[in-house]
Amino acid sequence: MTRVLVTGAGGAAGVAVIRSLMSRGGVEVLAADMDGWAAGLYLVPPHRRRIVQPGAADDFVDGVLSIVRDDAIDVVFSTVDVELPPLAARRAELAPATLAAPSLETIQTCLDKLALARACANTARVPETEPLTAEGVSRDWEFPVIVKPRRGAGSRGVRLIADRAELEAMAHDDSIIIQANLPGEEYSVDVIAVAGAVIAAVPRTRTRVDSGVSIAGQTVLDPELQEQAALVAAAIGLDGVANIQLRREASGRPALLEVNPRFPGALPLTIAAGVDLPSFALDLALGRPLPAPDDIVIRELATVRFLEDIVVDPAEVLHSDHAAHGAEDG
Ligand SMILES: Nc1ncnc2c1ncn2[C@@H]1O[C@H](COP(=O)(O)OP(=O)(O)O)[C@@H](O)[C@H]1O
Ligand SMILES: [Mg+2]
Repeated sequence: MTRVLVTGAGGAAGVAVIRSLMSRGGVEVLAADMDGWAAGLYLVPPHRRRIVQPGAADDFVDGVLSIVRDDAIDVVFSTVDVELPPLAARRAELAPATLAAPSLETIQTCLDKLALARACANTARVPETEPLTAEGVSRDWEFPVIVKPRRGAGSRGVRLIADRAELEAMAHDDSIIIQANLPGEEYSVDVIAVAGAVIAAVPRTRTRVDSGVSIAGQTVLDPELQEQAALVAAAIGLDGVANIQLRREASGRPALLEVNPRFPGALPLTIAAGVDLPSFALDLALGRPLPAPDDIVIRELATVRFLEDIVVDPAEVLHSDHAAHGAEDG
């Protein structure tokens, strides 16, 4: 029996990873979150639910290490952005458990959109990207341009700048980037790679997005999207799962927006389309062989999402310091 710990049980990605691994034989899933009200906790039996500290807290990794030891965990899956750098930085301490996440170097590159653009610019198609400094502003931009934080998430702080006057009026700040605008359709490509070589790349549209999470879309077998994603994966030396976001230039060619070095919320579509990323990532973590890329069949499917309730005894709801336990409603 393989024992896995999945963190971020309250998020769409966490729920999808838990469900995927539970449906696979020979795996016992422990679900964790910083919030006792995280839905995915209640997908597993009571004795396999765990509370962890917030990913940014000093004692977060220590808490995970205790769970790994006490519960004899074999593989740790984190589905939360802020948890990834501290976990990857202390990967060796998890042994004999394995962390199913890309290398710390890859994670750090992905979390800094300027570093990512520079890492990929020579191999993949990348929109021109410069820091919002005097030198960056003075480039020969074609307007409108996009201005966004280097370390943003959930589309926060993304602005379309209409002309040079508006760009020049902005206060210089090298934690912000100027990026050529990609006016075309947007895609996410879910990939799993070993040492930068892609095993499977599943492109999908983001037809409806709610708070940065895709809630409806479809897989599209466009070889150009798969090829761009493969070039990006190679450039960042991806080992594991990532979600590579592309958007079409005015010419129609796809170019790189950003890479999220983790499982996406839209995972159920990718799994249904034929690529069970959590299961593949588990095999990779356990050193088991993965199928050859040519043997993986990807289907075109569309998805919509609805809400579902899990009803439990109130006494079952885990206590957590980092969540309100009042009777809020919503
Ligand atoms: N260069 C760009 N051209 C066009 N749209 C962009 C560009 N950069 C960002 N956007 C828009 O802003 C959204 C968020 O940007 P992204 O780079 O994915 O950062 P994050 O998701 O981390 O906030 C994208 O999904 C896209 O809709
Ligand atoms: Mg994004």
